[in-house]
Amino acid sequence: APSSRVSLTVNGTRRTVTVDNRTSLLDLLREHLGLTGSKKGCNAGACGACTVLVDGHRVNSCLTLAVRLEGAEVTTVEGLAEGDRLHPLQQAFIDEDAFQCGYCTPGQIVSGVGCIQEGHTNSPEEIREWMSGNICRCGCYVKIVRAVEQTAG
Ligand code: FES
Repeated sequence: APSSRVSLTVNGTRRTVTVDNRTSLLDLLREHLGLTGSKKGCNAGACGACTVLVDGHRVNSCLTLAVRLEGAEVTTVEGLAEGDRLHPLQQAFIDEDAFQCGYCTPGQIVSGVGCIQEGHTNSPEEIREWMSGNICRCGCYVKIVRAVEQTAG
């Protein structure tokens, strides 16, 4: 199958990889770069476990073609902490006990960071609506929303 070279910045580091043209950003991250924080839930855009930021905007990385990302800036859950210091939303998830099995958590946290940056945090209902693409099978929504709300201030 045809392949292409793509250069993009992932969590602040410039990366150049050669991938099959059909490779998703999720597979690029997980298989080529060893960044397994972003999860493959449905691989079809329906669960949000694979959420990352591309140029500051939330995307389902399973639906995004890697070869379309020449020059893009990608942030994954691995890029949120600064050294040993967790991102405030990561800390809030711990403080609020906002997960059970944890599988959706990386996507929830990246999506929550996007939600805060976009300013969609004026009420629990608004947060819930703007994070509706992130499914939690364990049903931790109340605590997830509380963690985002608390971090947004
Ligand atoms: Fe991408 Fe479910 S794995 S939305």
